[in-house]
Amino acid sequence: MISLEIGKAVHIREWREDDFDLLHALDCACFPPPIVYSRRTLRKFLRLPGAHCLVGETGGRIAGFILTHAESPSTVRRARIRVDAERRGPLRGHIISLDVDPRFRRGGVGSALLHAAEESLVSNGVDIIDLETAVDNQPGVAFWRRHGYEIASTIADYYDAGVDAFAMFKAMPRELHGQSGASSLAERRSAKRGRLGPAMTGSYK
Ligand SMILES: CC(C)(COP(=O)(O)OP(=O)(O)OC[C@H]1O[C@@H](n2cnc3c(N)ncnc32)[C@H](O)[C@@H]1OP(=O)(O)O)[C@@H](O)C(=O)NCCC(=O)NCCS
Repeated sequence: MISLEIGKAVHIREWREDDFDLLHALDCACFPPPIVYSRRTLRKFLRLPGAHCLVGETGGRIAGFILTHAESPSTVRRARIRVDAERRGPLRGHIISLDVDPRFRRGGVGSALLHAAEESLVSNGVDIIDLETAVDNQPGVAFWRRHGYEIASTIADYYDAGVDAFAMFKAMPRELHGQSGASSLAERRSAKRGRLGPAMTGSYK
């Protein structure tokens, strides 16, 4: 269980089942259609093998959450028989969603959640983190750039016809590896799949 205090007032913890209604309400407050998740889609992502969701609280209230997915080293090894660890190529993590309650924005909640998620992903061997975000989401793009994410490409009609996304990524510095107090993904879940494409699961954002 992660319990970190980052900055002055953001308490980061693992999500719990009884957070679900609030997390979905937050998603509705953060994203317009067609980007917002239905309850069903949010549940599906939360249950993905390799998924990890952290909640940020300030003053005892949920101010935001981050949902990530990590490729599993064992899955990659199985998929690439006889390729040793050095030659396996980078392991990828993906940010499925980052949502901060509008009332708590520009207070460092998003940054605290991202730092905790990055540490957790890196401690599980992830080398590259990627994400998609709508091309017209200026605060989102500014936030990702501020945290070292670069635009790799533009994906036309990613969310829906005419709603394009930037594919963004960050190569994680080696020194982050192993610094987190997070429990390993292998302990939390046995990851059975590698990176999942949006066609199989609905769009990430
Ligand atoms: C993007 C988002 C997660 C940022 O969360 P936040 O808690 O407000 O972010 P922080 O306070 O940690 O901001 C860190 C930095 O990001 C940048 N940033 C954040 N919001 C910004 C905005 N509206 N305009 C420009 N830059 C912004 C700034 O550089 C900021 O540092 P500063 O406040 O010192 O200038 C939040 O606005 C949000 O939930 N938006 C809706 C959902 C979304 O777009 N999620 C991301 C795509 S998945």
